[in-house]
Amino acid sequence: MAPDPRRAVCPGSYDPVTNGHVDVITRAAAMFDELIIAVVNTSVRKDKALFKAEERMAFIREATSHLPNVTVKPFSILLVDFARQEGAMAIVKGLRAISDFEYELEMNQLNRQLASDIESVYLMASPQYSFLSSSGVKEIATFGGDVSELVPEGVARRLQEALAR
Ligand code: PNS
Repeated sequence: MAPDPRRAVCPGSYDPVTNGHVDVITRAAAMFDELIIAVVNTSVRKDKALFKAEERMAFIREATSHLPNVTVKPFSILLVDFARQEGAMAIVKGLRAISDFEYELEMNQLNRQLASDIESVYLMASPQYSFLSSSGVKEIATFGGDVSELVPEGVARRLQEALAR
């Protein structure tokens, strides 16, 4: 599909989606006509995902149901190939801290090498979400902490169930 400057992908593992992700998605949805949330289907990390891709996608769909230009799709190929396949010209990512910057700079150089026609755009995390991560949320929930302010309601419920098992 020919790249469309009005279409972007917002990739991630989203295991699970947090209120910080929803914030970035909401802001990106206001910048592009179409925003595709690309959920990693195979684990690109050494750690196994807590939730299956289908469930991670369902969480995102529920949390973004008020955003009509957002769709959610799985992917298990190179991100730039997925963006090309979807006809997206931009990749949107959220940045929280310096540690994110270092990782994303490396990803950016690699992706740019592979596909110089696809531009990456970075949105700075809103201050209240600067230290919020999926792994942090899982750690808090594992030890019985309250995550209701950190993730969408349905996710908080499922986290309790999944980690109580
Ligand atoms: O931090 P996350 O959410 O686990 O990031 C996942 C992702 C895919 C956005 C990140 O690993 C990335 O930018 N990868 C680029 C390299 C690539 O295409 N990997 C293949 C993923 S299937």
